[in-house]
Amino acid sequence: MRITLKRPISLEGEIILPGDKSISHRAAILNSLANGDPAHISNFCEGDDKTSIIRCLRGIGVKITQHIGCEFSKESECLLIHSSEFHEPKNILDAGNSGTTMRLMAGLLAAQPFFSIISGDLSLRSRPMNRVITPLIQMGAKVIGRESNSLAPLSINGGNIKGINYTMPVASAQVKSAIILASLYAEGKTIITEPSQSRDHTERMASFMGADIQVHKSSIIITPSQLKTSNINIPGDISSASTWIIAACCHPNARLKIKNVGLNPSRTGSIDILKRMGANLIIENNRIENGEPVGDIIAESSNLVGTEISGDIIPKMIDEIPNIAVAACFSKGKTYIKDAAELRFKESDRIESMFQGLSSLGAKITHEVDGLTITGTSKLNGGYCNSYGDHRIAMAMGVAGILSNSETTIGSSEAVEISYPNFWETLKSIQR
Ligand code: S3P
Repeated sequence: MRITLKRPISLEGEIILPGDKSISHRAAILNSLANGDPAHISNFCEGDDKTSIIRCLRGIGVKITQHIGCEFSKESECLLIHSSEFHEPKNILDAGNSGTTMRLMAGLLAAQPFFSIISGDLSLRSRPMNRVITPLIQMGAKVIGRESNSLAPLSINGGNIKGINYTMPVASAQVKSAIILASLYAEGKTIITEPSQSRDHTERMASFMGADIQVHKSSIIITPSQLKTSNINIPGDISSASTWIIAACCHPNARLKIKNVGLNPSRTGSIDILKRMGANLIIENNRIENGEPVGDIIAESSNLVGTEISGDIIPKMIDEIPNIAVAACFSKGKTYIKDAAELRFKESDRIESMFQGLSSLGAKITHEVDGLTITGTSKLNGGYCNSYGDHRIAMAMGVAGILSNSETTIGSSEAVEISYPNFWETLKSIQR
């Protein structure tokens, strides 16, 4: 599918986001392994990644039902996750396009006394899995992957897991979470050390549900524990919010209110960077829900200035960098994005995808092994670009499209189905 966009006179409106994808995955997995009454999960993430995690959990025997109304809202759709006895899957588990589904499931499966195979689509089968296979093998699981244990499909003979002391070579919340999930079933404690902090939703939610997880500086100590099920209202996804924030900040006549956004400090790197760049952002209605900070964000037209983005902040904004690259085109001066080589291992090679996309719309951009350098010119010309089948690229280029001087066409625009099926409709609804 292709979509063609034009620059509107103004942007205004109030946006309700799909639920956070990372928190939704944790809510489904942790409640299925916990003890207690079925957990009501409201505002669960949307799109193909939702289908992927539900399909994989059902494949090992988790009962998941859907109904309308729960303690959080009478009208909203609610998932009911039943505490379940897992069983050996009768078929290959299909994680679709979702790295979070595959890596977190790998951790869970590694601890189960049965055999399983997990695979995914072409993109997922080309993403590095050695980073999750290595620690799970050290914990005692028998995990084998394609190309010398580096790629999916993965076959997993689980069970008899023991605690390990593991220093992660790269900051990755998916790998950290896989190890935490396996370590809940281990004999002995597990200690994980991260090179820099990645998102900590698993630690927060597991602790909230009764797990014994201690965090000391960059180390996480997990003592095997039994969790209790918990109802959870998932906050809106800050990665999706960032698209709207950039649209508002870079358009000369814009004001958008984005409600109910997850504001976990391990995810708000892009907000910190945008504030440094001079963004007009107001955060209000701050509160804590189920152990996660949440608030509303008002974003308005801003005069942004370029900056350098590097080091420990990168994992805290990794999924928002494509949007920040768009913002850099509308900022005064140069923006340097460094230490972000991990972008090459996402749903597409996001350094290459953004370089290609923004270049074809007329940006002054160069690419390096670990990042991008963008000279702001306060304009994009429009033209043709592609999502490369990557939802975050589709959305970032969508925003670039409505900020461009002439028409922009985005190929493979259906990629938004992965995490934000209503994205194009919402984009239309805020244009005046
Ligand atoms: C995620 C972690 C991040 C992020 C991904 C979701 C998670 O990847 O890019 O979209 O839910 O744990 P890393 O594992 O590289 O941190």
